[in-house]
Amino acid sequence: MTNNKKHILVIDDDAATCDFLRELFEEEGWRVSAALNTAMALAAVQTEQFHLIVSDINLNEQWNGIELLKHFRQIAPQAQVILISGFGTLETAIEAVREGAFDFISKPFNVQEVVATARRALQLAEEATPPEPETLKELSARYASSGLVGHSRQMIELYMEIARVAAYRSTVLIIGESGTGKELVARAIHQHSPRVAHPFIAVNCGALTETLLEAELFGHVRGSFTGAISDKKGLFEEAEGGTIFLDEIGETSAALQVKLLRALQESEIRRVGATKATKIDVRVIAATNRNLEQEVKAGRFREDLYYRLSVITLLVPPLRERREDIPLLAHHFLRRTCAETGKQVTLSEQALKALYDYDWSGNVRELENSIEHAVLHSRGQVITEADLPVRLRKRKEGDSSWQARTFADLPSLEEMERRYLLHVLESVNGNRTRAAEVLQIDRRTLYRMAERFKINLDGE
Ligand SMILES: Nc1ncnc2c1ncn2[C@@H]1O[C@H](COP(=O)(O)OP(=O)(O)OP(=O)(O)O)[C@@H](O)[C@H]1O
Ligand SMILES: [Mg+2]
Repeated sequence: MTNNKKHILVIDDDAATCDFLRELFEEEGWRVSAALNTAMALAAVQTEQFHLIVSDINLNEQWNGIELLKHFRQIAPQAQVILISGFGTLETAIEAVREGAFDFISKPFNVQEVVATARRALQLAEEATPPEPETLKELSARYASSGLVGHSRQMIELYMEIARVAAYRSTVLIIGESGTGKELVARAIHQHSPRVAHPFIAVNCGALTETLLEAELFGHVRGSFTGAISDKKGLFEEAEGGTIFLDEIGETSAALQVKLLRALQESEIRRVGATKATKIDVRVIAATNRNLEQEVKAGRFREDLYYRLSVITLLVPPLRERREDIPLLAHHFLRRTCAETGKQVTLSEQALKALYDYDWSGNVRELENSIEHAVLHSRGQVITEADLPVRLRKRKEGDSSWQARTFADLPSLEEMERRYLLHVLESVNGNRTRAAEVLQIDRRTLYRMAERFKINLDGE
């Protein structure tokens, strides 16, 4: 029902202005999203379609209205743009209109003027032709189906890495702080690999004693120890044809490390108590939040096993290094928690800002828990700062991280798409049919994209 409503994105670093415009526009029956800076705006524009963008001209020092306009043109070509000019920015505003902005409105606002201008812009947006589907959106959507949410440059690069390594058989080591999503990444690799029809089995190596872990992983034969009343397959054998995920690999004992090394080197395992080895075809993905190189130097982790495991190493970046994913993740968890609890709540701009400013040493898991906490504690229909866990409320005034991120940190959407296309072509050795399959587009679209990016499809 809300889908055919006109959708407006309001961007202003002053939350009060956002709220004012939101109320005004919602009264007109339009749907409104708000962003307090360029990073949030970018995240919003990449996930949702907007008919109109109403943006402050002076969002930060690096970007004047003209440059902002150019970026919006690129990432949301279907949207009309209205700029808000404050004191001293009138000239830029006029220039922006010459460059293709729909119009500008000045502060202090004249309510009638604001609504009338927005109405005219929306009319024009309706007449504009719908854009072609964007492959980068499709890319993110594909990973969203594996549960991975994020549009930051770092996450897009991670998706590309996943796509690249999924095809191989080789071992992958996933490193990253606790709660960054290492297990999700492992699952995504499996889901995008030729092994997808076979099992994915996750084992937490830190949760079991040495003897139990060995029996779990490799199985045992009847009578090999007290309680082994029959032969039992281990998880390696259960995962035949698929993938085994060894989480917290840094916690394994020296003796087990030897056995794992053998399994990797010889593709065979020996059940506890067995004399014969069993051949296996299982891909191993390991993860750790320890610094394994340091563990090797300290003599706690076998060097040869480390080299075996780290043929391919993927680093999952901490959340504080990809803050532009925070709004997206917050809404993702909010939607999920609302669905689970039957509550209907939204996030206030202030709460979102507090989430954005926080340091997230517990990464995505901590964000996930905080949103659940906030939903459970919210009394009204809107989550305010007061509903957030206490540690989040004490944000430092004047913290610059909120303002510091700009478009300058990110390659354009166009550039990311180009890189992705090149990367896919390379990984399928220029085979167009395969490339189209991988990209989940038809060949005509592939040709159009190649033409747009001036990529020669004939060359190998
Ligand atoms: N990009 C993401 N999108 C959506 N959910 C995520 C993302 N990253 C992590 N999560 C969620 O955060 C939680 C922690 O993720 P996960 O268990 O994969 O982290 P981890 O890196 O394995 O942590 P640990 O080192 O503590 O084992 C999970 O509930 C997961 O669903
Ligand atoms: Mg984990």
